Amino acid sequence: MDKIVVEGGNRLEGSVRINGAKNAALPIMAACLLLHGPSRIKGIPDIIDIRTQSEILRNLGGDVKKAEDGALEIIFRDGENDDKFTAPYELVRKMRASICVLGPLLSKRRRAKVSYPGGCVIGQRPIDLHIKGLAALGAQIETTEGYINATADKLKGAHISFTGKTVLGTCNVLTAAVLAEGTTTIEYAACEPEVQDLANFLNKAGARITGIGENKMTVEGVQKLYGVDYEIIPDRIEAGTFMIAGAITRGDITLENARQEHLGAVIDKLREIGVEITPSGNTIRVKGCDLYHAVDVMTLPYPGMPTDMQAQFMALLCIAEGKSIISEKIFPDRFIHAAELRRMGADIRVDGPSAIIRGIPFLSGTEVMVSDLRAGAGLVLAGLVAKGTTQIHRIYHLDRGYERIAERLSSLGADIKRIGE
Ligand code: EPU
Repeated sequence: MDKIVVEGGNRLEGSVRINGAKNAALPIMAACLLLHGPSRIKGIPDIIDIRTQSEILRNLGGDVKKAEDGALEIIFRDGENDDKFTAPYELVRKMRASICVLGPLLSKRRRAKVSYPGGCVIGQRPIDLHIKGLAALGAQIETTEGYINATADKLKGAHISFTGKTVLGTCNVLTAAVLAEGTTTIEYAACEPEVQDLANFLNKAGARITGIGENKMTVEGVQKLYGVDYEIIPDRIEAGTFMIAGAITRGDITLENARQEHLGAVIDKLREIGVEITPSGNTIRVKGCDLYHAVDVMTLPYPGMPTDMQAQFMALLCIAEGKSIISEKIFPDRFIHAAELRRMGADIRVDGPSAIIRGIPFLSGTEVMVSDLRAGAGLVLAGLVAKGTTQIHRIYHLDRGYERIAERLSSLGADIKRIGE
């Protein structure tokens, strides 16, 4: 197993290009099941989760390959694979997000058998809202032997009112509703840019979705959808992670291919901490300073602060002057990284869904273990500013969502390398 070794203290300078969004790419790839003809999707990052999703789609009969220009070409040939409707445990256990094939499979093949995703280190992660939404459209769903077995002779538009915001639950209902008969309304739909990107992709393919990015979305069912060329949005979480890399090293870096409009809560909070942020077109310049102030952070559904940025903010707040409180409103148990940061000298107390951080002048390098993707990002950021050497183990979690993170930070001047163990 590889590890990342960081010698902290280098100031980052230069520019870095942000990749396409993992969490937009995954449901968009699954939605290709619905389309007639080939699609070309540009901007897909080269990360493990994308490879897992490609494998799941191949298992379902899809032809998934990377073109010379890096675009992902996906085609499902009509009538050839209608008997394939299973996403097996071996693949779903690698990536919880594989649940997003449920909606497309039900819609296109009238049947889906998807391994029931378990909880994970960030929390319980139920799927009751997905099931409720799909059942409202007419699906019969039962769970047997660890699998969600869903069938639907016909899907019919319905009014669905989610009782909580769910990103992939909204994606599953959207993908099931686009080819359903009649109109579907989704109240309390997730507004995340990644959900918007899926809806825009589906509309380009011929769907009729309105209210994109709003609490209430409406879907008029259509007869057919067609393959398209599409470029996915830049990854706002990768962008936010690099912004904190610039800030925590008191550096001066510029992100290219970043969308400031998707990063409002992150930018506002960084400015409150004392970081200088200058967006211009598709670039964002981040300039650090010597003294950072403690702030309170509360994760919320979009446009609030993303939970996927919580660990990275925690790393920065470890060295900000004063007492900060992070309240985790999406995944209340998502604090495993706090214990690892404490091993680096951080003063953090976790109290239920909150973490209280008292800033200290510096962190100290040591050996730490990654528990999940974003926790890993937080630990790498902490390593960049820690005195001495930080060795980060179990970095396969990072490979799931960040493309060549060590290499790209190194090109900005960090003393960081990946070592095979
Ligand atoms: N929830 C329910 N019932 C459901 C579904 C969700 O109660 O049926 C609850 C969850 O327990 C949680 C909240 O609703 O408290 C939000 O969960 P959501 O369904 O929105 O999460 P998700 O769709 O499974 C996506 C991202 C996560 C990200 C969350 C929240 C993808 C592939 N994953 O997960 O990303 O943290 O939304 O924004 O889009 C990551 O990239 O590292 C990651 C974990």
